[in-house]
Amino acid sequence: MTSPYKTILAIETSCDETAAAVVVNGTQLVANVVASQIDIHRRYGGVVPEVASRQHILAIESVVREAVACTPGGWATIDAIAATYGPGLSGALLTGLNTAKTLAWARGLPFLMVNHVEAHLYATWIDAAVPPAFPAVALVVSGGHTMLALIRDHADAQLLGGTLDDAAGEAFDKVARLLALGYPGGPAIQQSARAPIEAQRLPRAWLHGTYDFSFSGLKTAVSTDPAWVAARASGDPDQCVQRSAELAYLFQESVVDILVRKTKAAVSATNAKSVIVAGGVAANARLRDALRAAIRVPLHIPPIHLCTDNAAMIAACAYWHPVNGDLAVAVDPNAPFVAGPQSTSGAVFRQA
Ligand code: KG4
Ligand code: ZN
Repeated sequence: MTSPYKTILAIETSCDETAAAVVVNGTQLVANVVASQIDIHRRYGGVVPEVASRQHILAIESVVREAVACTPGGWATIDAIAATYGPGLSGALLTGLNTAKTLAWARGLPFLMVNHVEAHLYATWIDAAVPPAFPAVALVVSGGHTMLALIRDHADAQLLGGTLDDAAGEAFDKVARLLALGYPGGPAIQQSARAPIEAQRLPRAWLHGTYDFSFSGLKTAVSTDPAWVAARASGDPDQCVQRSAELAYLFQESVVDILVRKTKAAVSATNAKSVIVAGGVAANARLRDALRAAIRVPLHIPPIHLCTDNAAMIAACAYWHPVNGDLAVAVDPNAPFVAGPQSTSGAVFRQA
C-alpha cells in the first residue's frame, strides 16, 4: 500500500534529536533538519529525559520552519503531516506529536502517526537506487531497541527475536561509560577500538535456537576484566587508556559477531530476498563491513546520517505505511513495532 500523500512533512522528537524533514514519494529527500542535543546530554553521560523535553520545546519551531523553508513551494506543496507517536520518552514525544497535530489541524492537512522503530527501516528507502525486496530480514539496532524481524511487505512484519536485556546501542553507551570513553558510546568505542587483539575474546551470549540477544553479560565481562581492574588500581593513565582501547575492540567484536551471525541465520531460515539494517548502531563501521562480507543477498544500510534519529525516515514510513491519526492520538512510550509476543524463540530458527 502506498500513500495517497505525495509530499510529507514529518516531525521526530522521540529521544534527543529534534528533527523535521520533507520527503516526496517516500524516497526523495527534499529537506532534512536535525537539531541534536548530544552536546547538552554529554555532560550527564546520557540522555536526561526532562532536559530532552525542554530542549525539544525550544527547538521545534525553528526546526520545522527551516524544513519547510528548504522545500521548494513551501507549505503549498505539503500533502500531509506525520509524527512519531512512540516508542520513546513520553515528554519528548509529546512535543513532536502535538506540534504535528496542531499544524495538521491549523492547515487542514491529514495527520499520520508513525512508529519510530518501524520508521528506522525506511531510512533505506530514501534516495535508494533500488529499494529492499520483500521478504526482507530487518535488523534494527538502536539505543532503545534490538530486534530481528521478517518484513513480508509494508505493514506486514513478524518479530523473530529481540534483546532480553540491553539494546545494542545501550550496551555501547554503558560500556563506553565503564571504559571512560565518553558519550555517545557507539562512536567513542568505534574510535577507540582501532588496534586488533588476537589473543583474547570476550564472551558471546549465543542463546542458541533463538533470534534473541543478550548483552548484559558482555558488559559485566568488561567491568570485571582483571587487566582493566588492575590498570585502574595502578592509577597509571597510560595503562588505563591502553586496556580501555583493547576492551573497546573486544567488546565491539563480540557485538558485531553476534549481530552478523544471527542475521545470517535468519536469512537462511526465511529465504529472505534482502536484508535491511537500521538504527544508530548501523552507523558502526565494523558492523557495516562485517555484514557486507557475510550477507549474500542485497544488503540495505542507510548512509550514516540516516542511521541515527531523523525525521526523513518518519516521512518515508508515513508514505509506505500510512496510518491516519486524529487529534485524540496520544503518545505511546512503549508502542510495539509488531504485535504479538516480544520473543518468538525458535519459531523459524535454523542455525546457518
Ligand atoms: O537510533 P538512535 O539514534 O536512537 C534510538 O532510537 O535509540 O541510536 C542511538 C544509538 C546510541 O546508543 C549510540 O551509541 C549508537 O546508536 N551509535 C553507535 C554508533 N553511532 C551511534 N553505535 C555503534 N557505533 C556507532 N558508530
Ligand atoms: Zn531511533
